[in-house]
Amino acid sequence: MLNRNKFPSFLLFSACFIIIYFLFDRKIIILKKSSSTRAEYLQDCLNLYKKLRNPDKKNIFRPPLREPPKELYDEFTDNGNFPITSLRYFNNAYSDSASNSSSSKLISSSQFYMLLQNVIQNKALGYKDTLLNKVMHEFKKNIEKKSMAVIGTVLPWVEAIAYHLGSSKVSSFDYTRKRYNISRLEWWHVNDFLDSSISNNKLETFDNAASFSSIEHAGLGRFGDPLSPYGDVEAVQQVHCMLKPGGLFFLGLPGSKDGSSFLVFNAHRIYGKSRLKLLFKNWKLIREYKGGHNIFVLQKHYY
Ligand SMILES: *[C@@H]1O[C@H](CO)[C@@H](O)[C@H](O)[C@H]1NC(C)=O
Ligand SMILES: *[C@@H]1O[C@H](CO)[C@@H](O)[C@H](O)[C@H]1NC(C)=O
Repeated sequence: MLNRNKFPSFLLFSACFIIIYFLFDRKIIILKKSSSTRAEYLQDCLNLYKKLRNPDKKNIFRPPLREPPKELYDEFTDNGNFPITSLRYFNNAYSDSASNSSSSKLISSSQFYMLLQNVIQNKALGYKDTLLNKVMHEFKKNIEKKSMAVIGTVLPWVEAIAYHLGSSKVSSFDYTRKRYNISRLEWWHVNDFLDSSISNNKLETFDNAASFSSIEHAGLGRFGDPLSPYGDVEAVQQVHCMLKPGGLFFLGLPGSKDGSSFLVFNAHRIYGKSRLKLLFKNWKLIREYKGGHNIFVLQKHYY
């Protein structure tokens, strides 16, 4: 027998659920402060992994958008704190960025060994940078015999630095599928890593991490990634979840001359005080170096 009263209450329940679901989905998951328990922290990490693995498909645009959609504008600009100062359009959407294909491209070993030679000779590497090599050499004791996760790789030059400094294992993370034929090196498609971490309930597996000129692009759609106004914040939090407590994160980001923070859609974000504050939540800033890209050495000081 159908109870007439049940029908409307069920509808009401569904409506509440849907509203809560969307509120939650739109909300950025900022890891809680040290007052929360370790169990809560680990659960937050898993929730973040799940969110990153299953992005809202309506936020994926091919070709990438030239301007943020109206409904995301306030979030992209952090309600005026992070203004869009100009527009610069790129379409670097990789064809395989969202694929689950098992085919992967082999990274030529001779190319890697050439990068390694450049590290040894202290020559300019990716983005004509020489600073990251210098910084990571200063932290050799922390890197040697420890695992290193490299976030966002076009050319594995950051990997070459860690490899040279004696990392026990260097893992590249990207939205492309590639592989190495060199011991101590491995390549992860980010989605495969998230799947594996979620299904095995595995977090905090790396000793250290590094990322150069990658985080500032997260969530802008330029690389075919889903639009996410706080994609950079989430990417840095993902690294936090990947690291063992006490682990170091070598992070290279473009900085502004006057300390302001702004967005050049869909090219990149430029980091000044206010946006860095958002990014460095839950981290201890160990050292800071000024350069073409500024380099920050952060430490996970959570638990
Ligand atoms: C992976 O790709 C195959 C076809 O290429 C498809 O049938 C399958 O559903 C995909 N799996 C996921 C998890 O997307
Ligand atoms: C991998 O490298 C070894 C030598 O270290 C070589 O013998 C082998 O053919 C390589 N495999 C591929 C697929 O390139």
